[in-house]
Amino acid sequence: MTYQSGRHFLQIPGPTDVPDRVLRAMARPTIDHRGPEFAKLTHELLNGLKQIFKTSGPVAIYPSSGTGAWEASLVNTLSPGDKVLMFETGYFATLWRNMAVKLGLDVDFVPGDWRHGVDPAMVEEKLIEDKKQNIKAVIMVHNETSTGATSRVAGVRTAIDRAGHPALFLVDTISSLGSIDYRHDEWRVDVTVGCSQKGLMLPPGLGLNAISDKALKASKSARLPKSYWDWGPMINENQSGFFPYTPSTNLLYGLRESLAMLVEEGLENVFARHRRLAESTRRAVRAWGLEILCRNPEEYSDSLTAVLMPNGYNADELREIILKKFNMSLGTGLGKLKGKILRIGHLGDFNELMLAGTLSGIEMGLALANVPFSKGGVTEALDYLHHTDKQSIRDPK
Ligand SMILES: Cc1ncc(COP(=O)(O)O)c(C=O)c1O
Repeated sequence: MTYQSGRHFLQIPGPTDVPDRVLRAMARPTIDHRGPEFAKLTHELLNGLKQIFKTSGPVAIYPSSGTGAWEASLVNTLSPGDKVLMFETGYFATLWRNMAVKLGLDVDFVPGDWRHGVDPAMVEEKLIEDKKQNIKAVIMVHNETSTGATSRVAGVRTAIDRAGHPALFLVDTISSLGSIDYRHDEWRVDVTVGCSQKGLMLPPGLGLNAISDKALKASKSARLPKSYWDWGPMINENQSGFFPYTPSTNLLYGLRESLAMLVEEGLENVFARHRRLAESTRRAVRAWGLEILCRNPEEYSDSLTAVLMPNGYNADELREIILKKFNMSLGTGLGKLKGKILRIGHLGDFNELMLAGTLSGIEMGLALANVPFSKGGVTEALDYLHHTDKQSIRDPK
């Protein structure tokens, strides 16, 4: 392959661009993970992460991808044969369901069309039907990265309360944490699952669990087999600043820097920035005459936009042209959406000019690939940026 000048545009919905500040923070010698300097770092990070999850409870940091953090949330709270309620919002919700089944849980998987988020009314109905309260957990993905639909976690919390149901509440925030408003304590979520490579602007390799008192209590009697993922030794060792096994020391240096960046910008400003850039992206897509996959405007994702290709046109061919010609990676369609959609990542360390470059690359790519579309999406997006300030344009989900 010949050298492609200029910077690669990594516009997949995670892993996201790692800012230079974070890269430099990680480029330091690894220290003794059982020494005093390390203990100080652990305390700093655990406190910092609480602000991001908006919790006062414990947070576990695993040297893992997000999938590991999924497994940790299930094996620490549930027992073989437990009934759980999950929702088919897309590819990642389906993978998490498959994991739950493999672990021996009895999953009621509410079917979905991969174009909507979780319907709170459906949650209420399902829980009211469950007279004997056999359902042990309601488990959902906040931001479905495969479709660009963001479910209303607060609405689902209200549904659980209205049904008067004692089920645990587990939420995946892998592509929303640090990008879209999220409140672990206020929404009384029992386990929130996160990871490093999206809104936290880090390379892959850290899996996160924010844990409520109720979840901690459930973990004392949960019987699914666990060892590596066991919260017990993790929370215990963390108290003195250490880990039950070797942590990802250099990724943790990076995390310290990315948390500092989020605090410097202000978390609410980070959310508003994502909202504004997302809305600008959607205006470009509409101006091109293309369809946004997510059908409910209330559920539009602020971290990515999935765009449907016109019939007879393959999204992966367009993505390939854009990669070759403009050195930009866009997200592929996953599972049954393969070839049908492309996903534009607009999360993490991202700004107006990066968005302008991203949309320009897509507009030029559409023309090169002979996809039928209307010109002017970029202009529409820039007009929107011009006419808006950074204030919130939509209520939090
Ligand atoms: C919403 C969501 N959940 C879970 C995962 C799985 O995380 P990982 O690939 O880091 O294991 C992803 C990955 O993109 C995701 O987007």
